Amino acid sequence: MENDVSWMATDWTEEERPATDLRPEMPHPARIYNYFLGGKDNFPADRAAAEQMIAVAPRTPGAAKANRAFLQRAVRFVAGQGIDQFLDIGTGIPTAGNTHEVAQQVNPKAGVVYVDNDPIVLAHARALMAGAGHGATAVIQADLREPAAILADPRVHEVLDFDRPVALMLVAVLHFVDEELDPYGLVATLLEALPSGSYLILSHATGDFDPPATAEAGKQIYKKAAAQVSPRTREQVARFTAGLEEVEPGLVALSRWRPESAEQAEVWAPGYAVVARKP
Ligand SMILES: C[S@@+](CC[C@H](N)C(=O)[O-])C[C@H]1O[C@@H](n2cnc3c(N)ncnc32)[C@H](O)[C@@H]1O
Repeated sequence: MENDVSWMATDWTEEERPATDLRPEMPHPARIYNYFLGGKDNFPADRAAAEQMIAVAPRTPGAAKANRAFLQRAVRFVAGQGIDQFLDIGTGIPTAGNTHEVAQQVNPKAGVVYVDNDPIVLAHARALMAGAGHGATAVIQADLREPAAILADPRVHEVLDFDRPVALMLVAVLHFVDEELDPYGLVATLLEALPSGSYLILSHATGDFDPPATAEAGKQIYKKAAAQVSPRTREQVARFTAGLEEVEPGLVALSRWRPESAEQAEVWAPGYAVVARKP
């Protein structure tokens, strides 16, 4: 397959050009995921890792699409509860139905801050900030493992008012944070900064639905990538919503979170999803 780098020419001004090297020779989760979704913003190393993953678990691209569909359902649901501010950490490379597009279909004034630690996402800042709605959007390069820096970033506060409820989105990103880094503490720090009535939208990879060898093979493939993957059990994922009120149907296999069709409900995806409200 040819190496499509057309995005390099399309989306940057000199100011936006990421300072960091994209390290095309190393597989990156954002670009691997982009390949699973059928996107072209990936390099040969990303495609090779993705194909290895598909060889081990052929339904992975379908699972990635199911995760994306969960994100969109959850954003629609939360926007429908009157939430008009979204902090989307681990944004990914833009694709159809980005958070601000879905939220602004419900409320054109909805504001979104996108956060990702991969500079390729920043390279697409304009795609993430364009749209029909009137709500503000911002894209920042920052790391979920440093929540204090995200919370202190003035660009976050230009778009989001932390005195009003915010939806914190951690969709398919926490499994890139190792247990040793206390992912539960990171999430708690972010939630502490948000007022009552805020929401957490979360999905997370699990090995619970696979033979142990499959999950282990997946971990091995990501070992050569820019971020390692730590699938978690249902019990571990449930710790992220401690002290929150889970919205129906609670913590479930991600295709089972309020599917909008029988077809959506049946897609195999080795991940859990939950939406919960801060009391
Ligand atoms: C599987 S994609 C998910 C994208 C999107 N949230 C979705 O569900 O469609 C994971 C994203 O998380 C980002 N990511 C991984 N580790 C991160 C970290 N420590 N801080 C911020 N972003 C991170 C990756 O760069 C990638 O864009």
